[in-house]
Amino acid sequence: MGDNRYLTFALTKGRLAGKTLALLEQIGITCTQMQEKDSRKLIFVNEEQKLRFFLAKGPDVPTYVEYGAADIGVVGKDELLEEGRRVYEVLDLGFGQCRMCVCGPSRARELLQHHERIRVASKYPAIAKDYFYNKKHQTVDIIKLNGSVELGPIVGLSDVIVDIVETGSTLKENGLEVLEEICPLSARMIVNRVSMQMENDRIKDIILKLRSVLKLQ
Ligand code: PRP
Repeated sequence: MGDNRYLTFALTKGRLAGKTLALLEQIGITCTQMQEKDSRKLIFVNEEQKLRFFLAKGPDVPTYVEYGAADIGVVGKDELLEEGRRVYEVLDLGFGQCRMCVCGPSRARELLQHHERIRVASKYPAIAKDYFYNKKHQTVDIIKLNGSVELGPIVGLSDVIVDIVETGSTLKENGLEVLEEICPLSARMIVNRVSMQMENDRIKDIILKLRSVLKLQ
């Protein structure tokens, strides 16, 4: 395909979006349309650079990229692990750093030692399942929640939670703590597998420029 085709970026709405745009700006990729405040618009175009950007919910970004609705995506490693989509993960962008952890009240620490059948609440059931079943070999009941997961152990829904910890203040303010760390997380750039072949020059150029700005080898 020639240079006339638009290259489409799927960006994660919310915390990561601003940081992604700031990073792209450093390599000369801009989208002024996107900076309009209070807009409900979801898709933005840079006609000059033949680029399109849209904002999606984190778990949906790998889906858009796998199906080729977006060529490139920027999304947290947590969503990549949870969704298990067939995409190329090409860069660790370094921002959005946090940790996936097993958390709970300190008394729950013991429940993790003896392979007890405990209840685990999480927005990330696949990550929780993989950790408990494949790494710890502990059979657990996983309860899917959609947010404010810290409530789980507080109101007696679950013994522990598997959730993201960034500053640790949500845990602290709710009398919970990190019991075990599962893995570090950060924002990643992903690429559709066909786009990587068809638009190799343009995508490689973006990756190289980002690597240079991020001071990666
Ligand atoms: C995330 C995460 C924790 C919190 C961690 O929730 O699920 O609850 O941030 O951050 P901290 O360690 O800096 O306190 P988010 O704010 O995305 O909202 P949610 O609970 O509705 O998922």
